Amino acid sequence: MKSCDLTGNVLGKLSRLSGMVLAQETGMMWLLTSILGMAVLLGCSGESPSVKNEEPQELRVGSDAIEFTPPSPETIPGSRLGEQIRLGYEIVVNTQEYAKSYVGNRLNCTNCHLDAGLNPNAASFVGLASVYPEYRARNARMNTLADRVNECFERSLNGRALPPDSSKLQAVVAYITWLSHGVPQGATLPWRGLQRIGSPRPPDPVNGKALFANKCAFCHGSDGQGTMAAPPVWGPQSYNIAAGMARVTVAAAFIKSNMPRGWGWSLSDSDAYDVAAYVNSQPRPDFPGKANDWPKGGKPADAPY
Ligand code: HEC
Ligand code: HEC
Repeated sequence: MKSCDLTGNVLGKLSRLSGMVLAQETGMMWLLTSILGMAVLLGCSGESPSVKNEEPQELRVGSDAIEFTPPSPETIPGSRLGEQIRLGYEIVVNTQEYAKSYVGNRLNCTNCHLDAGLNPNAASFVGLASVYPEYRARNARMNTLADRVNECFERSLNGRALPPDSSKLQAVVAYITWLSHGVPQGATLPWRGLQRIGSPRPPDPVNGKALFANKCAFCHGSDGQGTMAAPPVWGPQSYNIAAGMARVTVAAAFIKSNMPRGWGWSLSDSDAYDVAAYVNSQPRPDFPGKANDWPKGGKPADAPY
């Protein structure tokens, strides 16, 4: 079985398990786009699987000792833990509804952690429970998986952290922990994070603007504020300036492998950088806590503050 079949399979089953919240919530156009996109992205369409789409994924999946093998939904226990895992999944795909009071924009986790965290090219959740707790320079301390989830709530979702004893936070952690089943503690995950690319020259936001109009505006809107087909990429409903995605190297990596949705790996590295630089030069929410970031140094060169 190709890894793409596995990912598609698990996701399909999960969606059925959850009663297709995805379909109900996001509108027909989005659904069509994403089904079409998924099929192409995963190289699973009978018609014309693009070889280009598969190559980098193959490189990252199944290399070394650890394989990208998310568990089958049948392994979700029928206990209270099983309920938590399912709730965690719902929160990830429909954060707007299931964690409403902690979200300050129009994004859901799965808008960036594509396919509910099961896409190995989009900062996948698979295996993460086995690498936390982990020291991070941004706050210069050890971070639990729950801490890291909360950072995305505060920054990527421009919202606020869930209390440590929150059942919703525990549900997200339970979901990710379930997705990490069988991965040994401390393992190096070949698919972890977004696969960084280099820019052969300094990014050119003018070319980025033209690229956005030609290749992105159709779904994200010419004003970047999102449409029925895709979430906002700038403006008050987008990620804030302290989010990982607000860094040009991170956005370029995400865009390169995943955008336009369904046509990942179609942009050149420099085009991915140009459009990332354009998107991230647009206005977005501030983050007051930014003053406390990187207290002991190590701030990346592309941090926008
Ligand atoms: C065919 C429609 C489509 C096109 C074209 C498209 N996107 Fe997206 N984009 C999406 C969808 C849908 C999502 C959310 C994915 C999900 O939830 O599965 C998304 C997510 C994103 C995200 C992360 C979530 C957010 O809103 O911040 C960024 C950044 C992004 N796209 C940038 C781009 C850029 C840059 C381009 C042009 C190179 C582009 N997209 C082209 C549909 C599209
Ligand atoms: C705007 C895009 C975006 C949204 C929305 C978002 N994240 Fe993230 N998240 C990121 C990026 C970017 C990273 C860092 C990836 C990297 O460094 O390669 C990240 C990292 C993480 C990590 C750590 C990954 C690792 O490898 O250690 C976790 C866990 C996480 N996010 C959970 C969530 C959860 C749960 C939600 C919803 C509550 C969420 N994120 C929403 C963009 C987003």
